[in-house]
Amino acid sequence: MAVITNIQDLKDLHKKRTPKMFYDYCESGSWTEQTFRENTTDFAQIRLRQRVAVNMEGRSTKTKMIGQEVSMPVALAPVGSTGMQCADGEIKAAKAAEKFGVPFTLSTMAICSIEDIAENTTAPFWFQLYVMRDEEFTSGLIARAKAAKCSAMVLTLDLQLLGQRHKDLKNGLSVPPKPTPKAIFDLAQRWKWGMGMLGTKRHTFRNIVGHAKGVENIASLSKWADSQFDPRMDWNQIKRLKDEWGGKLILKGILDAEDAIKALEVGADAIIVSNHGGRQLDGALSSIRSLPAIIDAVGDKIEVHIDSGIRSGQDVLKAMAMGAKGTYIGRAYIHGLGAMGEEGVTKALEVIHKELDYTMALCGHRDIEKVGRDILLIPKNFEGDWQ
Ligand SMILES: Cc1cc2nc3c(=O)[nH]c(=O)nc-3n(C[C@H](O)[C@H](O)[C@H](O)COP(=O)(O)O)c2cc1C
Repeated sequence: MAVITNIQDLKDLHKKRTPKMFYDYCESGSWTEQTFRENTTDFAQIRLRQRVAVNMEGRSTKTKMIGQEVSMPVALAPVGSTGMQCADGEIKAAKAAEKFGVPFTLSTMAICSIEDIAENTTAPFWFQLYVMRDEEFTSGLIARAKAAKCSAMVLTLDLQLLGQRHKDLKNGLSVPPKPTPKAIFDLAQRWKWGMGMLGTKRHTFRNIVGHAKGVENIASLSKWADSQFDPRMDWNQIKRLKDEWGGKLILKGILDAEDAIKALEVGADAIIVSNHGGRQLDGALSSIRSLPAIIDAVGDKIEVHIDSGIRSGQDVLKAMAMGAKGTYIGRAYIHGLGAMGEEGVTKALEVIHKELDYTMALCGHRDIEKVGRDILLIPKNFEGDWQ
């Protein structure tokens, strides 16, 4: 049994145990992957101030995200096709999140449906919406999320077009995988994954199939999805969707202070400073570099969350110290899921929690809500001196 001490250990196991096309789908960014790489290397540029002789007893990482209590300020980000990393992946991740006391966000492009998650969990989860051209379908998703008592809607704004990830094209990524000789060879070496898949009926995008007009089977789905992400979405539509939803709204994919101000003006409850984990606009700034300007512009008026590049509790602490009120992990928990299913997601959360807790203490703090920029050593010109 492998000893897991950090997220990299889970990543190594994920690579071994999951078909290459799905591991690559997770571990890739768009085009040159510059933004994907910098999301993590920029976190590493920030250093921490070690403080000593401070009472470290009675520490707490508890706080609130959009008014909901969380055991630490880390939510599971929406990740499409999670149920291909591991059978029933979204249900397993949601269960792990519930037990840990952190929010789980279900993607529109999930394998398990909104109803699947509702039936298999008791804590309210968050639903991530992609706006589709088919307005009736989009409204249907909102109604289903309401019926499932989702406690927030995360509206993703940075994917009106799908960023190109070269590996997906080269691997012939499809859900479920097509039985090509290459895929069969790959699957034969990951028989445990295959056994898991044989044991579930959840093999396709269950939020969509049977709900969108003309999508009754898998053959018609890929054609439908390619043409359905709505490139016309604008702030007026966001306002309309907010009214239609009527609950807590989190806008995901904000990377610019001007857009953060617009998000504030439409009345969102929170924003996620995100570049989609480097999967959309290659060449965009990393999220952590974009954060200070956004906090300065709107941080006292709207809850600012962040994702992209978080691989440790130190990263979470750095983001919180900079002024974020919550963080999300994507790949860090997917590595856990691909490595060891629900247990692996729990392990990822435990690793991050311990790193966060200990690092906070060694920086001289006992309460995550009281941590501020003073614990950070930020290189001069970290945000960049751009024209
Ligand atoms: C494999 C994969 C699939 C994703 N699918 C979605 C999605 O369906 N909806 C969405 O809003 N974001 C999606 N994202 C972006 C994540 O929500 C999140 O922004 C990103 O993973 C954060 O970066 P990190 O992986 O470095 O933590 C996806 C990310 C990955 C890695």
